[in-house]
Amino acid sequence: MTRKILVTSALPYANGAIHLGHLVEYIQTDIWVRFQKMRGHACWYVCADDTHGTPVMLRAEKEGVTPEALIERVRSEHTRDFGGFLIGFDNYHSTHAPETRAFCDLFYQRLKAAGLIKARFIEQFYDPVKAMFLPDRFIKGECPKCGAADQYGDSCEACGAAYVPTELKNPCSVVSGVRPELRASEHYFFRLSDPRCETFLRAYTRQENGVLQPEAANKMREWLGEEGEHLLADWDISRDAPYFGFGIPDAPGKFFYVWLDAPIGYMGSFQNLCHREGLDFNAFWQPGSNAELYHFIGKDILYFHALFWPAELEAAGFRTPTKIFAHGFLTVDGLKMSKSRGTFITAESYLAEGLNPEWLRYYFAGKLSASMEDIDLNLDDFVARVNADLIGKYVNIASRAAGFIVKRFGGRLLAADAELPALRAIREAAPGIAERYENREFAKAMREIMALADGANQYVDREKPWELAKIPEKEAQLHAVCSNSLNLFYQLTALLKPVLPALSARVEAFLDVAPIAWDDVQRLLPAGHGIQPYAHLMTRIDPKQIAQLVAANRESLAPAAPIAAPAATDAGKAKTEGAAKTEDAPKPDVISIDDFDRMDLRVARVVDAARVEGAEKLIRLVLDIGEEKPRQVFAGIKSAYDPAALKGRLTVMVANLAPRKMKFGLSEGMVLAASGANDVAGGIYLISPDAGATPGMRVK
Ligand code: MSP
Ligand code: ZN
Repeated sequence: MTRKILVTSALPYANGAIHLGHLVEYIQTDIWVRFQKMRGHACWYVCADDTHGTPVMLRAEKEGVTPEALIERVRSEHTRDFGGFLIGFDNYHSTHAPETRAFCDLFYQRLKAAGLIKARFIEQFYDPVKAMFLPDRFIKGECPKCGAADQYGDSCEACGAAYVPTELKNPCSVVSGVRPELRASEHYFFRLSDPRCETFLRAYTRQENGVLQPEAANKMREWLGEEGEHLLADWDISRDAPYFGFGIPDAPGKFFYVWLDAPIGYMGSFQNLCHREGLDFNAFWQPGSNAELYHFIGKDILYFHALFWPAELEAAGFRTPTKIFAHGFLTVDGLKMSKSRGTFITAESYLAEGLNPEWLRYYFAGKLSASMEDIDLNLDDFVARVNADLIGKYVNIASRAAGFIVKRFGGRLLAADAELPALRAIREAAPGIAERYENREFAKAMREIMALADGANQYVDREKPWELAKIPEKEAQLHAVCSNSLNLFYQLTALLKPVLPALSARVEAFLDVAPIAWDDVQRLLPAGHGIQPYAHLMTRIDPKQIAQLVAANRESLAPAAPIAAPAATDAGKAKTEGAAKTEDAPKPDVISIDDFDRMDLRVARVVDAARVEGAEKLIRLVLDIGEEKPRQVFAGIKSAYDPAALKGRLTVMVANLAPRKMKFGLSEGMVLAASGANDVAGGIYLISPDAGATPGMRVK
């Protein structure tokens, strides 16, 4: 029976590069999809960039481009990286697309009609300098539970507590550095606490239903509580302007929260594909549909996919996911990926160093299971495993046999010995291996396939074709052994094809066979079949390449721009690799040019200067640095300058210093002045650029 299957991977944020952590998921999904397609099922794999939200908005602003231009550029980078790792999406869309907008409006209408949308005023942190409400991840402070410093507004990485930002002690805005203020604003909520939602979710997420893995079903029990406990809170689905997203149709100035439109982006992407391929969208999304729907996700976004998303789908009259497959997080050499260690490895850098993407695909396959456990990329083991398995056990079978067939037998094969134990073993193991793939037990599948490859190698080692080749009367035996070997290789290729699609394509060309389907593992190459001369299939990894990769990804110092830190995260999830930590960064005596570059020095014109009531040393400067609004800076230069004499002159300021709240107001930078060890005795000398410089020019 041909199954109809729709598969998604989580939509990566449009404000960061794809890294090896992401690739765990896309490679896992891609292997599964390729397996389904090889089995002859009608399987579609869609994804998109997740484009909306505050981080994208702020990053675009910082780069001086529109959010639309930013997401377009990032989408082409993501597409390039995924292509490089052979991720075979049937469609890669964007959430910032008409299809997704139309579905968002439809969900909103239907939820509203069902009485599941409620508006209510809430108080939220607001950044008075930046004039915007702050997402949880843009507020930091001390954990209300354990007191750990420097924690995000939604959860504590030290003790794992989840809370709301207003519970933080000493909160501060990550955007401007000031203490945020509480402000009220009207928000729209999806009424998850409605008994209909709760009843549905209890039934839907019960372990016996098999929608969730056992660990995920347990989590769900924790989140839902016992029967009669009402733990689910309504979900805030709106955000105030300024925001990059879809406006809520009947609510000016309000936008759908990025996590509302993101999963709807799965449907948007699929709709876009249906349009192109002439598929029937409704056949996949109507309640009672006989199509299967699978979401591959990381364990950090389980809450969104197992609670909000199915509840929304159910309430809006769509089908719900068949299964949600959550995987664990990637560590490198046992530790969280780290920029200072060089283990925060981007997809782009891996390919740029000339490393083969199929090495990583195979290594990840060898680690992946159906569980939510984290998986480790051990760099030494990576080299050893790939070289031993792919080159030593698999590719070797072909390279040892093909030469003789081409040189001695005109490229023609004899009929294989179907009863050869090594061939029989593959045929017999294939259904079990198919089950491993189906159940996402890739590590087990790889182990079983390598055991079969061991069997094939033992056969070759026993028959020793290189010795048979020296004995004229063993010609027929040599022909038979090499023919058997190439049949073994053909069948092993069928088993590995979901993992190694490009290598398999080269094998298909060299063996001169049609694209291999799963059932071909039961097939032998016919007598007289001709092959092409052996073309090189795969090289070994040189450990030096790995050292270079790590060096290329090592940063001497963590980036400091305040809005860069939480850029990769807008969700309620515990994830820090996007925010490089300074703790393990070296403290150098000399700085690199990159370190210096982090300072944003600008030519500034003094628009206004005045004494400050009650401050002995300070002058309040208003500085034009070519921005829309001039900056206010309090400078300790009163002993040396008369404010009136400063007006109109040029100086240099540090423009990206975190603003500081002072008794007299906010100081938004610092002017540069020369002074001796002691201001009063040595004097203070403001720095001036040469004539011709204009406000806003960068000093470097
Ligand atoms: N935009 C959201 C998903 C929206 S889905 C409707 C998001 N994006 S993400 O870019 O942060 O992550 C995309 C996927 O990659 C997620 O499933 C996430 O779990 C996964 N991973 C990101 N970093 C990872 C590791 N270090 N290890 C394994 N998977 C990781 O979340
Ligand atoms: Zn804590």
